[in-house]
Amino acid sequence: MKPTTSPKTYRVKSFGCQMNVYDGERMAEMLAERGITQAPEGEEADLVVLNTCHIREKAAEKVYSDIGRLTKAGRAAGKEPLIAVAGCVAQAEGEEIMARAPAVSMVVGPQAYHRLPEMLDRAVKGERATDTDMPAIAKFAALPERRRVAPAAFLTVQEGCDKFCTYCVVPYTRGAEISRPFADLVEEAKRLVDAGAKEITLLGQNVSAWSGEDEKGHRQGLDGLIRRLATISDLRRIRYTTSHPADMDEGLIAAHGEVDKLMPFLHLPVQSGSDRVLKAMNRSHTADSYLKLLDRFRAARPDIALSGDFIVGFPGETEAEFEETLALVDTVGYAQAFSFKYSPRPGTPAATMADQIPPEAMDERLQRLQSALNRDQLAFNRASEGRTCQVLVERKGKLPGQWLGKSPWLQSVWFAREDGGDCAIGDLVEVTLGEAGPNSLAGTLREDVEA
Ligand code: 5AD
Ligand code: SF4
Repeated sequence: MKPTTSPKTYRVKSFGCQMNVYDGERMAEMLAERGITQAPEGEEADLVVLNTCHIREKAAEKVYSDIGRLTKAGRAAGKEPLIAVAGCVAQAEGEEIMARAPAVSMVVGPQAYHRLPEMLDRAVKGERATDTDMPAIAKFAALPERRRVAPAAFLTVQEGCDKFCTYCVVPYTRGAEISRPFADLVEEAKRLVDAGAKEITLLGQNVSAWSGEDEKGHRQGLDGLIRRLATISDLRRIRYTTSHPADMDEGLIAAHGEVDKLMPFLHLPVQSGSDRVLKAMNRSHTADSYLKLLDRFRAARPDIALSGDFIVGFPGETEAEFEETLALVDTVGYAQAFSFKYSPRPGTPAATMADQIPPEAMDERLQRLQSALNRDQLAFNRASEGRTCQVLVERKGKLPGQWLGKSPWLQSVWFAREDGGDCAIGDLVEVTLGEAGPNSLAGTLREDVEA
């Protein structure tokens, strides 16, 4: 690498999960702290951070093609950008990236990105650096304060996963489960609220495994943390994601019935409706135990909206086993869900299992599953028509006078004032939900009801 001048502008491109979105925001804040500003839309940045995801295939190829594109665009503009590869591909394939892509000057893993500024100093001098250490939680203390955030903000409370589902790379890329301390989280939540957050989504690869000690030294689970955060008066909404069925305890279920600020929404991945497949996935639950768990949530909060993750075409999955997944979907009636084709991940036990499913069968199963899930999502949205609920105003819509926000059930709602007037971003407003589409609803703001 040749020495270069210090970058003046940056762009952080985050792929994958919300945890990466959070990490991307924190990296951007660190760069801003150093006086580097976000590159305007459409302009090449001096420094590009590719914050990558490794959960499904083609992740690494995508990174290499992004690097190629950035270098080419930089050359055309007369200056190649400094490139940092962050996130889970960096963690898993850092050395290979360094060897294969000379244009990359920094490779930084998800537990080490607080060191990005130092690495940048070295990169400017022409040195290349890799940091994929996994120091337990050290990064959070080293990150700058939160200054300005969106009304719906993320807060990472837990990282890593000890579940070792046989298809999943997370336990390898994000490491063992660690919980951030209670006091730090209360502090960061307060800062987020001071910086404009009205809603906080607590994030973790396995967020319901969070545990810590409160101010009095009492052991708390996620529900204890939620109850404490609910006392922050300007914080209006709390959500959490993602959970594993094995870690949903009575306290968390009860919190859904008792804490008004905890939104009536549960994202609880199930992956498959077949007990044989679930066992091969090392999921430690059955279809029936999952359904019984959902019943308990529904008993605590009857209007709770349910979401899940699914994998089709896990090695050895038969047509009959896939149909068990469809049957589970019919039983639950999800409000929304994510579904994926199984993707063999290097180093995971499932990657070397016999009976890998041919791509055509996976495509066909995915299509059938998604049409069932889309049908249920539309039905859920239609059932909300006519309901009046609070919507958190997140941004302006594309049409004049139009605004976009989320309902308590995480539906996107496009709405307008009857007089076409303005709303303030970050306000909670009362909206009567109108016509439902598959991915959003129309709504009308109610001037007559105080939110
Ligand atoms: N192939 C396909 N989907 C996967 N997921 C995790 N690993 C894989 C894989 N190897 C899905 C799971 C998980 C979600 C975040 O990504 O459904 O819940
Ligand atoms: Fe991966 Fe989630 Fe299973 Fe952990 S619980 S191994 S993150 S799928």
